[in-house]
Amino acid sequence: MSSGKGDPIGSLNIFTAKDPNWTYVRKRLTVVFTASKLRTMQDLLIKKSDDLIERLTKEIGKGDLIQTRQICTDYTSDVVGESAFGISSESTRDGDSVVRRITREFGAFNLHRGLSWSSIFFFPELFFLAVMRQYRHQWLLIVTILQNLLEMSEDLLVAQAAVFLFGGFDTSGSVFTFTIYELAHNHDAQERLYKELEETKKQLGDKDFDLKSLEELPYLNAVIKETLRKYPPMGWLDRVATKEYQIDNNLTIPAGSVIYVNTVGMHMDPEYFPEPEVYNPNRFLPGNDKSILPYTFMPFGDGPRSCIGLRFAKQVLRFGIAKVCLNFKMEPIPKTPKPHEVQIDKYGLLMMPGEKLSVNLIPRPPLSA
Ligand code: HEM
Repeated sequence: MSSGKGDPIGSLNIFTAKDPNWTYVRKRLTVVFTASKLRTMQDLLIKKSDDLIERLTKEIGKGDLIQTRQICTDYTSDVVGESAFGISSESTRDGDSVVRRITREFGAFNLHRGLSWSSIFFFPELFFLAVMRQYRHQWLLIVTILQNLLEMSEDLLVAQAAVFLFGGFDTSGSVFTFTIYELAHNHDAQERLYKELEETKKQLGDKDFDLKSLEELPYLNAVIKETLRKYPPMGWLDRVATKEYQIDNNLTIPAGSVIYVNTVGMHMDPEYFPEPEVYNPNRFLPGNDKSILPYTFMPFGDGPRSCIGLRFAKQVLRFGIAKVCLNFKMEPIPKTPKPHEVQIDKYGLLMMPGEKLSVNLIPRPPLSA
């Protein structure tokens, strides 16, 4: 998956790079996601999740329908934009920012974009990644800090900046959106999560949630995993067979074959996840999760090329979901689709909502001490 050597941004980014480039880049980028670096994000997550509650409260006050996906993606664009690149992005508060303009453009579909995406798969040497080229000057603006940190060439850095933003904002924005939608439609799961959060917040007293307290909440983590099971933003993984492999007497995979792994197919297979249509976070509670077979749940991929942003993404989601659930009761809007009826975006590469997903948010009374 690369648009060819003529396109440094498309071909040098960690997502599309092959060895030796990939090993070089992955090693250097791994330092960006160490536990101590991620801890420094806590204040940002507190601020952004507070902005989110303020924005939602304002929108409820106006009586507008809550555009869940748009607002969740404003939040994830800000957090990825600010924490990775060190530039200010206030779209959670204001609904717009330079970073958000770029991420919005990523999601827009037109014929040119469709051809560009298809070309990455089918004619990699013929086309360029149009959007990444188009926004080259903006990437240049946001790579300065990374450049100092990682000692990479400009092309290499621009490529990583582009793929962090692209890989980070919509994936986590979509999981956040589907979580709110499912919780609105699953009263019991929502109440159980609320109780867990309420108890934690009471123990924290005047202090806000912190990374550690949220990381240890079994039900919150189970909720995030269950959304990732039903709606893995990347529903497939791709690999190349490095050697010939015999599956059985009828099927041998020749060396060099491209293999697509149907992750979402396994996540929705009743053999691995009974009643797969049912949103049931209990499957992922400690103890129950022992019955999940290895390699049947892979929302972040697996092996050396698995998602480098996994821990980062989970932190972003924990803060966002915890704050929304603690502050609002989520309810379905009559006549809107049930979760299993929600259209999936037909044009994108990723598994995203294909329609606006709105819910009713009812402010909860402040917690008493
Ligand atoms: C819920 C959110 C996310 C999901 C579900 C997700 C999922 C994935 C998946 C499935 C892969 C391919 C793994 C494989 O082939 O084994 C991947 C790769 C990657 N992801 Fe994520 N991702 C998320 C968030 C993020 C974030 C926040 C970032 C960066 C800030 C990020 C950066 C990357 C990068 C750079 C790669 C390529 C890694 C490599 O090839 O070495 N992702 N992600």
